[in-house]
Amino acid sequence: MDYKPMDWDSHPPLLYPDYHSNALRAPKKPLIPTQHTLSELTGPVYGHDSVGPLDNDLTKNSVKNGEPLGERIIVTGRVLDEDGRPVPDTLIEIWQANAAGRYIHVVDQHPAPLDPNFLGAGRCATDSEGRYKFYSIKPGAYPWRNHHNAWRPNHIHFSLFGRAFVTRLVTQMYFPGDPLLDIDPMVQSAPKEARERLVCKFSIDITEPEFALGYDFDFILRGRNATPMEG
Ligand SMILES: [Fe+2]
Repeated sequence: MDYKPMDWDSHPPLLYPDYHSNALRAPKKPLIPTQHTLSELTGPVYGHDSVGPLDNDLTKNSVKNGEPLGERIIVTGRVLDEDGRPVPDTLIEIWQANAAGRYIHVVDQHPAPLDPNFLGAGRCATDSEGRYKFYSIKPGAYPWRNHHNAWRPNHIHFSLFGRAFVTRLVTQMYFPGDPLLDIDPMVQSAPKEARERLVCKFSIDITEPEFALGYDFDFILRGRNATPMEG
């Protein structure tokens, strides 16, 4: 398997000054191109055995004494490679804030309630056609101190491995119609043409009656239509 060089027209620049902590991580010198080696081209392979039956249901996978609070959602779509071919049997890891916009993490101390029945973490694997599906609670917006009155739009974090380490994708999915998208430095750091690839689409066909709203979201690993990496 051969991979073309990464297409930077789909991804945020390594240094995006409006995203302040990004400046601490961005390289200060030009990148040095290197050849892909065997260890990057042969990938991590995850079997379905390693994914538990409730791992893809964040509304159930950490319930203690009741259902988690908030709006139930269904997210589904496909993982595709740079030529639009489905990527089967690939692991998708998921993490997010609860409905009140709070993570279970020692660094997150903003005054919104934790939900004892919601961990905000899960995972799923794609099937033979590259499809995935998971259930969750719509995450709330939260303040993040990047600048005065900075709030992150509703979003879900993902990590995907694809077929090899060179197809690794760490990204965030956003929801349509969110007024914070236009003023969020992380969203805005993605090139304009690629930004809409970060926003899922509401789907009445995926929506389950009397249960949950459905959203459609495809991941594209590498290539000119790639899903933008997190900045
Ligand atoms: Fe987040």
